[in-house]
Amino acid sequence: MIDQEKWSTILEEYEHLDVAPVTEPQRQYYFIKKCQQYVKQESEELGRPLYCKIVTFGCQMNARDSEKLTGILEEIGYEMIDQEEKADFVIYNTCTVRENANQRVYGRLGQLNRVKRKNTHMLIGLCGCMMQEPHVVEKLKKSYRFVDLIFGTHNIYKFAEVLATRFESGRMVIDIWKDTDRIVEDLPSDRKYSFKSGVNIMFGCNNFCSYCIVPYVRGRERSRNPKDIIREVERLVSDGVKEVMLLGQNVNSYGKTLEDPMTFAELLREIEKVDGLERLRFMTSHPKDLSDDLIAVMKDSSKICHHLHLPVQSGSTRILKKMNRRYTKEQYLELVEKIRKAVPDISLTTDIIVGFPQETEEDFQETLDVVRKVRFDSAFTFIYSKRTGTPASVMEGQVPQEVVKDRFDRLLKEVQAIAAKECARFESTVRTALVEEVNDQDPSLVTGRLDNNLLVHFPGTKEMIGALVPVRLLTCKGFYYIGEAVEK
Ligand code: SAH
Ligand code: SF4
Ligand code: F3S
Repeated sequence: MIDQEKWSTILEEYEHLDVAPVTEPQRQYYFIKKCQQYVKQESEELGRPLYCKIVTFGCQMNARDSEKLTGILEEIGYEMIDQEEKADFVIYNTCTVRENANQRVYGRLGQLNRVKRKNTHMLIGLCGCMMQEPHVVEKLKKSYRFVDLIFGTHNIYKFAEVLATRFESGRMVIDIWKDTDRIVEDLPSDRKYSFKSGVNIMFGCNNFCSYCIVPYVRGRERSRNPKDIIREVERLVSDGVKEVMLLGQNVNSYGKTLEDPMTFAELLREIEKVDGLERLRFMTSHPKDLSDDLIAVMKDSSKICHHLHLPVQSGSTRILKKMNRRYTKEQYLELVEKIRKAVPDISLTTDIIVGFPQETEEDFQETLDVVRKVRFDSAFTFIYSKRTGTPASVMEGQVPQEVVKDRFDRLLKEVQAIAAKECARFESTVRTALVEEVNDQDPSLVTGRLDNNLLVHFPGTKEMIGALVPVRLLTCKGFYYIGEAVEK
C-alpha cells in the first residue's frame, strides 16, 4: 500500500486549481486530483469501488514501471485486484523483445474485447515497449478500436494526465513520445513486496546490439542523479525494505551522462552506506565494460549479493562481432576467471541466443564450449527472434527453424545438467535466506531467496516473511533447495 496520508497532504493543494501547472511532477498531482473526482463519481454510481488490474510482460524495468502505475492508480482511487475479468480498468504493460511476447498481447486483447462487450464501461489501457513501435500503434488504431488509452515508455510519468484526457474526451487517447531526456521524480509508487524493491538507476540503452529492439523502444541512455537514488533507497529502508535491486539495461555504464560523472562502482559504494539496507543486487551487467573497480567493490562488500547476471549471448567471437557485443569469447572467459578469483562463491547466470543469422554448427559448438567452461548456475536461453528495424533483421543467412530448434534443445539440456550440479555445490552449507512467501503447495513451508538468487523451501510461518534467516541447505532439487532454519 502507498502512504495515503503523505500523498493526500501533498495532493490537497491541487484540488482547487483551475489550470494545470506546467512544472513536473506538480502537473501530475493536479491530474491525479482530477482523476480522483471521475473515479469517485463512477464508483458512487455503481455503489462499489472501481477495480484495476495491470498485466505485466517482460523484464524488471516493466515490473518497476507497473509499480509506478499502481501507485498512481491507487492514489486516483482504484483498488487493485487479481482477476482481469472483474476489473473496470485493465492495463497491459507490454514487452516486444521477442516476437512471441508480441503475439501474446494481441491474443489476450481479443479475449478482453469479449469481456468488454458485456461490461461496456470497462477501460483498456496499453503501455510499455510494444507501444513504441509505430506499426503496432497503427494496427491498434485500425483493428482494436475498443482500446481506450495507449501510451509509451518515455511518458509513463504522465499517466494521470493521459487518463484524465480519456475521462474528459470519452475517446481513444494515444500519447507516444519518440524519446526523452527527462526523468521525473517524486510520483507515487507501490511495491509488490514490502521487503524488497527494484530501484531504477538508469533508463534506456546506447549499446545497439544488432538483434535487440530495446534501444529503439526505451530510448537513449540516461542516468538518475545519485542523490535521488540514495534518497529513494533511504526511504525504502525506513519503510522496511531489506533488499534493493538496482535496475538498468547496462548498469556498468551508469553515470557517464551525468553532469558530474560517476561510475557504477562509486554509486554502489555510496548506496552500501545506507544504514539498515541488508542486501544489494543489480541487473544487468554488460561484459564489455565490467570494471576491475566493480569487482573490487563486490569483493569488499558485505551487502552486495554474490550473484552476477552476465549475459554472454554467444560463445563464438565471429557471431559476437556480428551481434555488436564488443567482446570476444576469450575476453569473456578471462573476465569470468577474474571475478571468480575475487569472489570464489559467486553465482554466475547468463542469457544466450541461438540461431543468430549465419550461426553455423561450429559457432554453436563455441557457445556450448563457453557453457561447459563457465558452468553457469543458470542460463536463460532464447531462440533468435527477428525484430523489425534492427540491423540483424536484414542480415543474410537467417538460420532455418528446424536447425535452430535442434541447437536450442541441445543447449538447454547442457545448461540444465550443469546448473543442477552447480546448484548442489552449496548443499549442507548454511546461508542466509530472505523469506518471501508461504509455499503455495505446502503451507507448512516458507520460501526464501538466498543471496545467490536460488530459492530454498524450509519449515516456517507467515510471520517470517521479510526476515533474513540463516538456513541449512539440506538437499538440492536441481534448481532449488530444501532446508531448515538454524539458530543465529
Ligand atoms: N540489457 C540486457 C538484456 C535485455 S533483453 C543485456 O544486455 O544483457 C534480455 C535478453 O533477451 C537479452 O540478454 C537477450 O539474450 C535476449 N534477446 C534480446 N533480443 C533478442 C532477440 N531479438 N531474439 C532473441 N533473444 C533476444
Ligand atoms: Fe539490448 Fe544490448 Fe542494450 Fe541489452 S545492451 S538492452 S541486449 S541493446
Ligand atoms: Fe521487454 Fe522492454 Fe524489458 S522490450 S525485455 S520489457 S525493456
